[in-house]
Amino acid sequence: MTTMEGRKVILTGMQPTGKLHIGGLLGAVNNWQRMLKNYDCLFFLADQHAITMPHVPAELRKNTLDCVAQYIACGLDPRECKIFLQSQVIGHTELMWVLGCLTPIGHLERMTQFKDKSKKVGESVCSGLLFYPVLMAADILLYNADLVPIGDDQRQHLEITRDIAQRFNGTFSETFVIPEAYVGKVGARIMSLQNPLAKMSKSDANQNSVVYITDADDVIRRKIMGAVTDSGGEIIFDSVNKPGISNLLNIYAAITEKTVDDAVAELCHLTSYAPLKRTVADAVIAKISTIREKYLEIADDREYLLSVLEAGRIEAQKRANRMIAKVYRKIGFLGN
Ligand code: TYM
Repeated sequence: MTTMEGRKVILTGMQPTGKLHIGGLLGAVNNWQRMLKNYDCLFFLADQHAITMPHVPAELRKNTLDCVAQYIACGLDPRECKIFLQSQVIGHTELMWVLGCLTPIGHLERMTQFKDKSKKVGESVCSGLLFYPVLMAADILLYNADLVPIGDDQRQHLEITRDIAQRFNGTFSETFVIPEAYVGKVGARIMSLQNPLAKMSKSDANQNSVVYITDADDVIRRKIMGAVTDSGGEIIFDSVNKPGISNLLNIYAAITEKTVDDAVAELCHLTSYAPLKRTVADAVIAKISTIREKYLEIADDREYLLSVLEAGRIEAQKRANRMIAKVYRKIGFLGN
């Protein structure tokens, strides 16, 4: 859907499950931050998704506002985009139900993330985890988003969203825009610093593998200098045979907004891994220290953060009401 001002709608979300790391920053936030000027941007915190895994309520509550502060610090200016909380807008779970009734259960059981996460939880895996992609489809289709910036790990969820939208349109007539994924050329998959074959993740037991945007300069330097590298000292990009060095090159390219080829051309003269790590650490520190300062400035301003969410909620609710009314009409509900 294009808005009245003729701009395309970009929407994306993140689970407020704790601190934001450079994977999320480089894989997602950086990309949408660049789009603020040219698109109608909606950004939300997926707190309903966050309860699909065991969680502590008080932590979720605290993390939610903290995440708002972190995203604003990363450059999501609330004057230029809408920031809202999924659970505060009526419509996400309503649409999820309708879409769930059109989604074959086998499609959900085949989702990689469902299989991985249910392995971790075992027997007690909840049905919310199975329904996770349907809620994600509802998040996107509720606002008729044209473009959805995501990291590589969410591609499959975007594919199923497109399938569901097409099935609805085919069954009940043209209703939803079929959204496109926007996956950046660099930074779409930042790997763990301690195991470059696994994605960087805040749930990693080894916290030296993750750089958070709130980490102090000396912590960032220690984590990057301690990154696992590969045998040989050559600086080339080869994610199969040299995953450690390739990950560092990818981080450097994404953080300095260069292509991987340009990063390699700039750094290949270095004769060992230590100066490469120092260069990467300097670049990460330069980028993150400004974000951290902004974060510290607003993190305790509860009133401001709540006011940002409230402004976002009002706008999101207006759009959600319109879409729910349309969907209910099409499927034969009497509506209000
Ligand atoms: P979440 O909270 O796990 O991650 C948020 C975004 O960060 C990206 N990301 C990464 N990118 C590169 N390297 C990494 N190591 C890395 N780790 C995370 C993710 O791909 C994601 O784009 N289900 C979503 C939240 C969601 C959503 C939506 C997103 C719910 N509804 C609708 C878009 C549209 C999630 O759990 O993201």
